[in-house]
Amino acid sequence: MVMLQNGKTILRCIIQKKDFLCGIKRPLHHFRFPKDSTYINGKWISAKDGSIFPVSNPADGETLAFVPDCSTVDLDEAINGAHDAFKEWKNTTAKERSYILRKMFNLHMENVGDLAHIITAEVGKPLQESVSEINYGASFLEWFSEEVRRIYGDIVPSPFKNKQMFFIRQPVGVAGIITPWNFPNAMITRKVGAALAAGCTCIIKPAEDTPLSALAFADIADKAGVPPGVINVVTSSRKNTPSIGKKLCESHKVATISFTGSTEVGKMLLMNSASTVKKVSLELGGNAPFIVFNSANVKQAVSGLMASKFRNSGQTCVCTNRILVQDKIHDSFVSELSKAMKNQLIVGNGFDTGVTLGPLINQHAVEKVEGHVKNAIENGANLVIGGKRHSRGGTYFEPTLLTQVTKDMLPFCEETFGPVAAIMKFSTEEEAIEIANSSKSGLAGYFYSEEVAQIVRVAKAIEVGMVGVNEGIISTSEAAFGGIKESGIGREGSRYGIDEYVEMKYICLGGLN
Ligand code: SIN
Repeated sequence: MVMLQNGKTILRCIIQKKDFLCGIKRPLHHFRFPKDSTYINGKWISAKDGSIFPVSNPADGETLAFVPDCSTVDLDEAINGAHDAFKEWKNTTAKERSYILRKMFNLHMENVGDLAHIITAEVGKPLQESVSEINYGASFLEWFSEEVRRIYGDIVPSPFKNKQMFFIRQPVGVAGIITPWNFPNAMITRKVGAALAAGCTCIIKPAEDTPLSALAFADIADKAGVPPGVINVVTSSRKNTPSIGKKLCESHKVATISFTGSTEVGKMLLMNSASTVKKVSLELGGNAPFIVFNSANVKQAVSGLMASKFRNSGQTCVCTNRILVQDKIHDSFVSELSKAMKNQLIVGNGFDTGVTLGPLINQHAVEKVEGHVKNAIENGANLVIGGKRHSRGGTYFEPTLLTQVTKDMLPFCEETFGPVAAIMKFSTEEEAIEIANSSKSGLAGYFYSEEVAQIVRVAKAIEVGMVGVNEGIISTSEAAFGGIKESGIGREGSRYGIDEYVEMKYICLGGLN
């Protein structure tokens, strides 16, 4: 049952219609944020001008909620709140911050069901994947609740008898955290977990399509005892988003920007941040190669591909995009893969039992996927499975398998971000590496081989920030997640994730004679 307060449902934000449960399909017990409100400076408040915008379920287009359409006026309030809160938060002890992060982790684990339902409602991903995302997201809070105790500095042997030298690592200040729709919880926790551990305060700007997970996160932070102003959420529509992003980059009170999303937007944020010489960390688009060498175990490679290609309907930055299969193994790989796709990919509403492939996020995404498939077929690719919008309508797309793809076709030149497996045949290792490295992107890459020397050679030669060798899923809180080339700057997760939120200070203590 849904909790009631004064005769009204507490989760009023999500309840604009009494039939909202068609979208959420489960009672939500623990989240309480008032109607048309976002969380700024420790309070649930509306946009100053009262504007709101709808959030819809991609599975059926149904409106789930209305949330504030904040403008730069509201952002100013968040920036000032975060800037003031930093004065105290930066002086908390590592142990105090650890305790709060651990509490946030515990609250995630106690509310996995509700949080996962919010994700499936606003992203469309199958419920089981949403549960995995909450476990993944929470793991960053747990990880950084532990790493916070190890933000060490250095004592440096001094060349002078009368001087002592120290390097200390201090929080940078207010962090502007701009997050994507594909992992609306985990991309917040991966950034905010590190920022809070470092002693930074945060302004979260969630993607327009998925602000509800961000609001649920704020509710958890509030319950965990995060002080007012330390975490703020500025929700906004597509219309207001560019001005919010620009202001975050240009404000002298914001010390760092962390963004996950498209390369195009990342470049814009980088440019806008130049005016204040801000620290910037970017997790941008990928175009992951997946190379299957002749020596590979085909079953293992197919299973790795299924995981890395179809996670979140192909909508992750580390999803396989370009599949390169060596000539001798090509036909058996294609045959095993098409069997796996037919047996394992069940398209439907993420809330329905057994569904493994949900809808795409919006019509724009469908048009892009459709354009890639059309371009490949028109230029000579062979369509093995799927190839068109799904008969369910809306934003569903058929799982698609293409062979005889060449490097000039769109599914190889650009990130497709959809359920399309595009395969190209190659003959030599040099050729595969040359094709893999021909992209401007360099986030993740995968390859399957049973030859030790080849494994070492290819792992070193491939121009990406992360390599899966005989493995299709590489994400975890312990991993240094990040890309090279146009896929980004900086690392998230792991012990290196904290570096994005601290700066080094050199202290020279003189007069020691
Ligand atoms: C992303 O798609 O941006 C993140 C994927 C992951 O963390 O595995």
